[in-house]
Amino acid sequence: MEYKFPNGFKWGTASSSYQIEGAWNEDGKGKSIWDIFTHAPGKIIGGENADVSIDHYHRYKEDIKLMAEVGLKNYRFSTSWPRIFPEGPDKLNTKGLDFYDRLVDELLTNNIEPYLCLYHWDLPLWMHEKGGWPNREIIGHFSNYAETMATKLGDRVSNWITQNEPFVTAGAGYFIGEHAPGEKNPIAAIRAVHHLLLSHGKAYQAIKASISRSINTGIVLNLSPVHPATDSKKDLKAAKMLDIIQNQAFLEPLLKGSSPLQKLKFLKPFIGDLIQSGDLELINQLDFLGVNYYSRAVVAHDKSFPIFSITQVHPEGNDYSGMWEIYPEGLSELLIKIWKEYFDSQIPGKKLPEIMVTENGIPVPDGIDFDGRIRDERRIRYLKDHINQIHEVISKGIPIKGYFVWSFMDNFEWAYGYSQRFGIVHVDFHTQKRTIKDSGHWFSKVIQDNGIQ
Ligand code: FCB
Repeated sequence: MEYKFPNGFKWGTASSSYQIEGAWNEDGKGKSIWDIFTHAPGKIIGGENADVSIDHYHRYKEDIKLMAEVGLKNYRFSTSWPRIFPEGPDKLNTKGLDFYDRLVDELLTNNIEPYLCLYHWDLPLWMHEKGGWPNREIIGHFSNYAETMATKLGDRVSNWITQNEPFVTAGAGYFIGEHAPGEKNPIAAIRAVHHLLLSHGKAYQAIKASISRSINTGIVLNLSPVHPATDSKKDLKAAKMLDIIQNQAFLEPLLKGSSPLQKLKFLKPFIGDLIQSGDLELINQLDFLGVNYYSRAVVAHDKSFPIFSITQVHPEGNDYSGMWEIYPEGLSELLIKIWKEYFDSQIPGKKLPEIMVTENGIPVPDGIDFDGRIRDERRIRYLKDHINQIHEVISKGIPIKGYFVWSFMDNFEWAYGYSQRFGIVHVDFHTQKRTIKDSGHWFSKVIQDNGIQ
């Protein structure tokens, strides 16, 4: 065995409701901001939407059977808030709740441990109309939704995730406008960051209060090591800035109960009285930290970019995929840095949150070969290189508890539509036929061997 992992290491895959479910207006589901965004012209490559996507809502039994065939032991998915509360905060849609009830039962029957994420970007339209994440009123509605889910599923779901990638929710949704709701408003984005974190703290408490047995509640962040494009003073400053807004602005409140944004003088006019007394203590509650890692960030100074004056650059030398640079060594750099800055320094005796890699994967334009196989060697190499990095981190004494591939099946990739395939299972988007790729068979063996041969 080349790389053996500790006993109990959690191998899994991740997905999200809007990207796979389809059934966008069935069984009483309300509209989400992604239903509106994808139906507006010019937002998504190919003008695509996920009205049907890969139809998981109807095919979940068949899909879970395939997961069992691959030998999957852990599965991360998200629940769609507008399926549960379609029209407003008071009217519960039991049909929506029943879908997740059946999904969880089906997973457990197949010995697959559910990791339930409450928010993976499909905000109900009614909440958007009330102001969305920039409006503090969202906290109460979100924690009510969290409580509803926990009350219904808490007897069977032991792993709860409050938010997926709040940096992207706020940054792509409210700052750059590439994601729903498509706003370009820095003040709204900064408010969204704080409220997303605060919603984590409130939901954490609501989940704990609703479930009497011992469960884990965490958050998933997309983190990257940030490198300057050159060693000029301006680029170094740009790199420091991105590290603050992408990494520290989330890690620090969650793990230390303070906010680096409050220390930035130039942000004062944007922040005002946003962070109220007690907020940071509320955010500072966590049983596990999920890290999504795809690539590093290389940045340069660019004064045309509002407020933060940064731009991302793509250095020569490494390979690139359809979306990002391939940079496996960034994963160990990142995990070691997080450990040193936020875990090593915690009060001795205090129970530390666990760390898991909750997403990692690569888009490859896979096609079916003449004999029906999908030889996605590039994906196997990518996953292997990243898993090896985790092994190296563990061998340094840093306890990483799990690794989840994004994604089990090819699906709708947000602004990229169906142009990027991330699955270890191929999906024919016309016929909905599923075929396990070579990477799926390979991952199956990794799970079986608890490591890489
Ligand atoms: C992450 C998202 C996930 C997927 C992957 C490729 O940022 O959480 O939904 O789109 O990227």
